[in-house]
Amino acid sequence: MAEFHEISPNAPAAEKLLNWVDNRFPASKLFKEHMSEYYAPKNFNFWYIFGSLSLLVLVIQIVTGIFLTMHYKPDAALAFGSVEYIMRDVPWGWLIRYMHSTGSSAFFVVVYLHMFRGLMYGSYRKPRELVWLFGCGIFLALMAEAFMGYLLPWGQMSYWGAQVIVNLFAAIPFVGPDLALLIRGDFVVGDATLNRFFAFHVIAVPLVLLGLVVAHIIALHEVGSNNPDGIEIKASKDANGRPLDGIPFHPYYSVHDIFGVGVFLMVFSAIIFFAPEMGGYFLEYNNFIPADPLQTPLHIAPVWYFTPYYSMLRAVTDEMMYALMACVLVGAVLAVTKAKMPNLFKGAIVGGAVVLVAMMLAIDAKFWGVVAMGGGVIILFFLPWLDNSPVLSIRYRPDWHKYLYAIFVIDFLVLGYLGMLPFSDISNRISQVGTLFYFGFFLLMPWWSRMGTPKPVPDRVTFTAH
Ligand code: HEM
Repeated sequence: MAEFHEISPNAPAAEKLLNWVDNRFPASKLFKEHMSEYYAPKNFNFWYIFGSLSLLVLVIQIVTGIFLTMHYKPDAALAFGSVEYIMRDVPWGWLIRYMHSTGSSAFFVVVYLHMFRGLMYGSYRKPRELVWLFGCGIFLALMAEAFMGYLLPWGQMSYWGAQVIVNLFAAIPFVGPDLALLIRGDFVVGDATLNRFFAFHVIAVPLVLLGLVVAHIIALHEVGSNNPDGIEIKASKDANGRPLDGIPFHPYYSVHDIFGVGVFLMVFSAIIFFAPEMGGYFLEYNNFIPADPLQTPLHIAPVWYFTPYYSMLRAVTDEMMYALMACVLVGAVLAVTKAKMPNLFKGAIVGGAVVLVAMMLAIDAKFWGVVAMGGGVIILFFLPWLDNSPVLSIRYRPDWHKYLYAIFVIDFLVLGYLGMLPFSDISNRISQVGTLFYFGFFLLMPWWSRMGTPKPVPDRVTFTAH
């Protein structure tokens, strides 16, 4: 136990109170470690605001969620009506509901930008692998949270969206149908499904999410932040052991972040007050019609933040399976002929590829579509070990890497756009090319990231006072 610290009896009351607390709980110590003496690189740019904004949106979602729960009824007969009641009769209910529904889209906007920053500056590389892995866990939890929350208003899109997605699990060989039944709690999406999704949405997943966010920030503060130059600031320290290119998070970045929060809140409020449905992108029109298990909507599409992955699901048709099998075989041949490894490994690769192709022939394309959709997210977990570039930041990589990243972003946006449209042969052909590019970008990264000559990386960060 630490020594009790005595303070002068004449000290101001606030100081006495803080001393009383500090003798029992490390309040000042935590503040110092994580705020006033947490040295962050001085060259943070625009892209570094999205971590704090993600925290802000998380708080908005939790607070508005608590108030929504006070009036919402998790019952298939009452849910739709209770949401209408919140919108029309509960004082300020419309604001709380629109903050929550707009908040879920805002969450994905800021988190996608936050992840893209990590990709650009190599923030997932050693020693920040765990920061990234916790982040990927957050992303998965966030997707589960949004998916289950979307069922709660019990509109047509809630109902049929959940029906389509839960049915996908039924495509898994052997266990699929039972698994789908276990998730629904019934043979079709029904009251039991609504109740369990409610339980997961309001307590189970938020707890996991909060735990992961805490772990994410503890891991980040253990290793220190990366920066747009991808240079380790701890490599150059002054006589007191402080990084020469670091500045205390508080007050420098706390003030900076408050400014960012101000700008964000202006945009967020403008959307809530003037375009809360965002032309059907944030709240789909079909969801203002109560769920009807006897009438399937003509066009079922998930909310925009899921559509890139939905496109990957739809892209895997019987025809696409041939392209995928060809990729597996070419990949195995290249690995065996180009990479140096013991014969035992080569044998394992060839054997693995043959088994995989046999499975691809035996199991329905729908299942592989589900694998593609899930794999599109899971592959992010492996990023720290796929990137072999000698430099972290895009700034010092060969120029063509920048173009490749730009194509990747366009590809992701196109997949997202196509995922919102009704199925058509031409758009699905584009999705197939887009899906192959998406996976190729990651799976071939061990090779292409090493190619080309990187630019010289300076010892100290680039910074001009402003
Ligand atoms: C609820 C969601 C999230 C919250 C609240 C959150 C919060 C934060 C905060 C406050 C920071 C430090 C400030 C900054 O660097 O921007 C940070 C850094 C970071 N986050 Fe997240 N994050 C979330 C999701 C994610 C996701 C989904 C990923 C990636 C899959 C991710 C990857 C990273 C990385 C790599 C860093 C270090 C960046 C650097 O030092 O350059 N985060 N996060």
